[in-house]
Amino acid sequence: MSDDADKQNGAEAAGRPERPIPDPPGYFEGESMTRRRAFTVAVQGIGGIAGAAIVLPAVGFAVAPIFHRGKERWEAVGPVGDFVEDTYRQVIFTETEGIGDAGKTTAYVRKSSKQLDEKPNEIVAVSNRCAHLGCPVRFVEAAGNFICPCHGGVYDFQGKRIGGPPVRPLDHFQARVRDGQVELGPRYSVTSQLEPVRARDPGEFTGGVWEYLYPPRPSTFPPPSG
Ligand code: FES
Repeated sequence: MSDDADKQNGAEAAGRPERPIPDPPGYFEGESMTRRRAFTVAVQGIGGIAGAAIVLPAVGFAVAPIFHRGKERWEAVGPVGDFVEDTYRQVIFTETEGIGDAGKTTAYVRKSSKQLDEKPNEIVAVSNRCAHLGCPVRFVEAAGNFICPCHGGVYDFQGKRIGGPPVRPLDHFQARVRDGQVELGPRYSVTSQLEPVRARDPGEFTGGVWEYLYPPRPSTFPPPSG
């Protein structure tokens, strides 16, 4: 005989009114779940909502910048006739708006060179910010190189690193010609073969294994065509 039957018989024997045996056990008549189960579900639901209220904003805060594409800024730096193939012209332009002189930067600009087998009729704009620790490099015309005064970094005519502590080439700026004016746009990094890479952080070394450790973001991929 089951325990439930024993209890019922005991109640009858004691003269107490007979109570219905819950079926399934633990449920009262008309209930679809036990109170214990109902409280458990309610607590779990409240916990889930509270957790989502904390986690979702944090996830959104972390993920949203990945899809944010900043507005590109272009600035004219002179008539295209002012630039030649065999040397650079130094220009200063605003890279970041709204912060005064701190937002200005220097670029060395020239036309693409047939001798160097560069794409014809393009503008090459090289940043003067050293890829080591950011000192301003200077183009030395007599040597045809960029020299960094801080720790002796040396870059060739195209901005490739050829000596000293820097581990990568100088950054470049996107460049175009509009209405006869050379315009410079966003900064981007290049590989040691001067191939453009993502502009996620121009100070970030993007060659070798780092290419895979820092995967591309939708907002900065594909990289600029130069
Ligand atoms: S900052 Fe240019 S070599 Fe160190």
